[in-house]
Amino acid sequence: MRIADSVLYVGVEDLTIDLFEGQYAVPNGVTYNSYLIEDEKIALMDSVDARKTEEWLQNLDRALNGKTPRFFIISHLEPDHSGSILAAAEKYPEMQLVMTAKALSMLPQFLPASLTARAVAVKENETLCLGAHTLRFLTAPMVHWPEVMVTYDEEDHVLFSADAFGRFGTMNPDEEWLPEARRYYFNIVGKYGNPVQTLLRKAAGLDIRVICPLHGPVLRDDLPAVLEKYQIWSSYQPESKGVLVAFGSLHGNTAGAAKYMAELLRAKGEKVALVDLARDDMSLALSMAFRYDRLVLAASTYDGGFFPKMEDFLLHLKAKAFQKRKVALIENGSWAPAAAKAMKAYLEQMKDIVFCENTVTIKSRVSEENKKQIAVLADELMN
Ligand SMILES: Cc1cc2nc3c(=O)[nH]c(=O)nc-3n(C[C@H](O)[C@H](O)[C@H](O)COP(=O)(O)O)c2cc1C
Ligand SMILES: [Fe+2]
Ligand SMILES: [Fe+2]
Repeated sequence: MRIADSVLYVGVEDLTIDLFEGQYAVPNGVTYNSYLIEDEKIALMDSVDARKTEEWLQNLDRALNGKTPRFFIISHLEPDHSGSILAAAEKYPEMQLVMTAKALSMLPQFLPASLTARAVAVKENETLCLGAHTLRFLTAPMVHWPEVMVTYDEEDHVLFSADAFGRFGTMNPDEEWLPEARRYYFNIVGKYGNPVQTLLRKAAGLDIRVICPLHGPVLRDDLPAVLEKYQIWSSYQPESKGVLVAFGSLHGNTAGAAKYMAELLRAKGEKVALVDLARDDMSLALSMAFRYDRLVLAASTYDGGFFPKMEDFLLHLKAKAFQKRKVALIENGSWAPAAAKAMKAYLEQMKDIVFCENTVTIKSRVSEENKKQIAVLADELMN
């Protein structure tokens, strides 16, 4: 597949992996992207997960058509991209490895230390001439590992963006970009808003016409909209007005209260996502919490604490630096309700969380009084 005049796609699809990074469901699979820049000196851009080494080498063979890459640009050492470096390095012994100094120092953790003798470290803004193409290297530390860099092809105006701008799912442009790009961003990169902002500032100085990420489709249409999403996400601003109502319920009463809250909010014209934390995908719930400006948490008290999946959700939110949102709490307990206080203790560790003044306490079944309280809470969320 040709990406630009002299840029070829040589990556692979992985449709059989059960969990990406050992935890994220990828119903449409994931791709490990790799590219070739054809010039007097050929540059190979990144490798793929060890699950797909053979297929990748075949793609490379076909695209190279008897030629040999001169440079192997390595933007990130995480195993989904470094898993096949050794195979290519052995196949093309003259190829020089190019990476940041940090990557070079980490290389022996992932690959035989002997490879470092074939590697050269590049600095911020350093360039490499392939012939007609000049590659410019920009470091991107902590997007989302310390050794990351991105590469800008000045000739074709292509940004090879490492894991930034990636998406779960295949390269298929018919798959909508936004939902899975959002879930990918907040779960994979989300904690590192400031480093992403730094990268965006560097990108703003370039005339980028194509973005080649390490996962998912190549981006060339509507790049301003894509960059705007990254700007919003990395500054932890809500993407739109709306409410995520997330619940954890043992016997269904708290679930009923959450659904009632969702109904009331929808009747007021709010966009609402309703998530059952025991059944729905946690990574999707997390991305919805970041998408909207308000959050309702409803949980049963459980052994003096609260519904474990809700605790898990709060741990995830905290780990990904959840902040700047308005939150309403609903708790349930049959003898000593304790969920709201415990949930609040987690949320208080996050930045700029504004709590609704009212908290609804249900004691087993949702009473008529509780319904009135939920209506008051819904009103308070609207202000
Ligand atoms: C294993 C277990 C532990 C519970 N621990 C508590 C508790 O510590 N304090 C309390 O008030 N209720 C406790 N409950 C009662 C539930 O909190 C209560 O029945 C529930 O909130 C009702 O809402 P639900 O139908 O949404 O589950 C417990 C229930 C179970 C099954
Ligand atoms: Fe990564
Ligand atoms: Fe990756």
